[in-house]
Amino acid sequence: MSRLIERIESGVPGLDRLLDGGIPKGNVVIVAGRAGTGKSVFGAQFLFYGSSMKGEKTLFITFTEDKAKFLRYMRNFGLDLGELESKGLMKVLNLVIPPVGQQNKALDEISKAFEEFKPTRAVLDPFSALTIPITGSKGELQSYVNSLISKIASNIDCTTLLISEVPASADQIGSGVEEYVADGIIVLYYLMRGKAKIKAVEIRKMRGTKHSNQATLLEITDDGIVIDPDIELT
Ligand SMILES: Nc1ncnc2c1ncn2[C@@H]1O[C@H](COP(=O)(O)OP(=O)(O)OP(=O)(O)O)[C@@H](O)[C@H]1O
Ligand SMILES: [Mg+2]
Repeated sequence: MSRLIERIESGVPGLDRLLDGGIPKGNVVIVAGRAGTGKSVFGAQFLFYGSSMKGEKTLFITFTEDKAKFLRYMRNFGLDLGELESKGLMKVLNLVIPPVGQQNKALDEISKAFEEFKPTRAVLDPFSALTIPITGSKGELQSYVNSLISKIASNIDCTTLLISEVPASADQIGSGVEEYVADGIIVLYYLMRGKAKIKAVEIRKMRGTKHSNQATLLEITDDGIVIDPDIELT
């Protein structure tokens, strides 16, 4: 294990072994996958662990869910985010998807939350919602995503997960620049095994550490996501 890099434990059982010990602190990591692959639970677990086990301040920015419904949903997995929020350890910020031309308003709210709350872990779910108001050329979209990720990365003490919804038909993540600009990419996906559909996780990239490149079994249980690093899928 590299000793120069400070790592943080992800809170997802099994994942840190795929990452040679944990996510390098301060990294901005894309968590990508199709609908229902477990991205939101993954994000919630990452923050819950930081706040409940390490006393860290954590920020969950969500766009698509009604907050009460979202908190109830996460409680199903033993993740009581509301309790952490009432203790002042977590902030769950429910933003509306910005209308066309008003992307800067959401960006300002996000920057303000980072500045005021000073989280050491954050999740944007889904990050892709922020790009909805950009209706111009691909170049414009890529330049916006680039500046957005740089802005988030400027919070150097914060390790951030950007949740990215990948449509079933797509073979690239987001606008295409995400893959180059982000420090890491974790992909959650479905695999067919005979007639059974199973879930897998793969670390496509993680700056600052060596890591597994292998598809590995991921399961969603009543206690959240569990990865079994000993079960590599081919
Ligand atoms: N109690 C449970 N036990 C096992 N698996 C569950 C349980 N509850 C939900 N799931 C699984 O979790 C998945 C949803 O996880 P999650 O909400 O994190 O997905 P997501 O990738 O964020 O989806 P979306 O793209 O729709 O936001 C469901 O598709 C289901 O397979
Ligand atoms: Mg989700």
